[in-house]
Amino acid sequence: MSLATRPAATVPNDLAAFWVPFTPNRAFKKAPRLITRAKDMHYYTVDGKAVLDGSAGMWCCNAGHNRSPIVEAIKSQAEELDYPPAFQFSHPKAFELATRIAALAPGDLDHVFFCNSGSEAVDTALKVALAYNNVRGEASRVRLIGRERGYHGVGFGGISVGGILANRKMFGTALGGVDHLSHTYNREKQAFTKGEPEWGAHLADDLDRLVALHDASTIAAVIVEPMAGSTGVLPPPKGYLERLRAICDKHGILLIFDEVITGFGRLGTPFAAERYGVVPDMITFAKGVTSGTVPMAGVLVRKGIYDAFMRGPEHVIELFHGYTYSAHPLACAAGIATLDVYRDEKLFERAGKLEGKWADAAMSLKGTPGVLDIRTVGLVAAIDLASKPDAVGKRAYDSMEKAFHEHGLLFRITGDTIALSPPLIISEEEIGEIFDKVGKVIRQVN
Ligand SMILES: Cc1ncc(COP(=O)(O)O)c(C=O)c1O
Repeated sequence: MSLATRPAATVPNDLAAFWVPFTPNRAFKKAPRLITRAKDMHYYTVDGKAVLDGSAGMWCCNAGHNRSPIVEAIKSQAEELDYPPAFQFSHPKAFELATRIAALAPGDLDHVFFCNSGSEAVDTALKVALAYNNVRGEASRVRLIGRERGYHGVGFGGISVGGILANRKMFGTALGGVDHLSHTYNREKQAFTKGEPEWGAHLADDLDRLVALHDASTIAAVIVEPMAGSTGVLPPPKGYLERLRAICDKHGILLIFDEVITGFGRLGTPFAAERYGVVPDMITFAKGVTSGTVPMAGVLVRKGIYDAFMRGPEHVIELFHGYTYSAHPLACAAGIATLDVYRDEKLFERAGKLEGKWADAAMSLKGTPGVLDIRTVGLVAAIDLASKPDAVGKRAYDSMEKAFHEHGLLFRITGDTIALSPPLIISEEEIGEIFDKVGKVIRQVN
């Protein structure tokens, strides 16, 4: 039988075929959390139940869901231009979006290399760091430094500089020549802090230890999330990032901020770099650039790095790197419309203004049985739950399930930590609703 005449529905539409990423598949398929549509602050389940979005999808949907201006921009782009080659050719909206993003970035971070995911952005930044050291005649700088408890996606570059055991141990040795700074969390010194903790700036000096071990002439770049998100929301200690910048400058080491989560207003400024008054050499971004509507990511690069590549014969490619879907027209249209929404509704400023109320509401759960620590910064909060001795992660997993199925609330978990990061359009009443529901769920799973 030819493919054309074969009956279409020979395979039942069940839950078997899809291997769900970063998900315990057997548990999920017993009681799937399926979402069929969304609007503004809410998701809707298959049976039409509204679920308040406590995590902007996965830190992405900063403008809220299915916003008309963004939806319309994607629709009209799909009708106008589907896809031009991304290499040797381009389209006007790619340049427009790059200019708009560069205008939001601090200092001379004024060139943008587009990718499709945070993982690709991280690999791109690491590759640019190595290549830049080659073109500036410092080819011995081949080491990359990450940080414990860092998350930089799942490419081999990202898992190598990342500091999460489970993401590394099954995948061989990954990249060689990588080392890690110590992480910045200390519960004894920092528990229940709103914003950046007072204690811990000195931990940046760990970079001096690595320089003493490897020599600066072998180190290309350091990559850190200004606020570590995926391992439980770790705001940087006051002064830490400035100190890291100073040590990088002292040794000629590039500093990369991974702002896949913190970019586009999450901490009340376009990028966390601005909140902390530190200009890194590169910024990776993703998620919020299109408010999660179409996959897109990129790397912001300082002028001096870009310029260093712009030499040699003009017909020769300067950087042998790129993706088929770099600056895809649908993503660019979505990105431009998203930046318009952020600007017109002043959503970054809104996040800054709500920060105090958000932090107070989160801290109201201090004293709830089983709560070990609460951290907040911008419109982000994390609540550490005491682990069950025989089943680490079970308490948070149960809380996520109950929140979704029984309380109409969606949030993210990591280990036994609940992480919250709502769309920036959230109202004060909805902030109250989130923490009210979270409190109920925590008491339920205790
Ligand atoms: C800081 C950071 N970097 C990189 C990534 C990877 O992004 P993606 O899942 O789009 O590859 C993430 C994802 O959450 C992230 O938080």
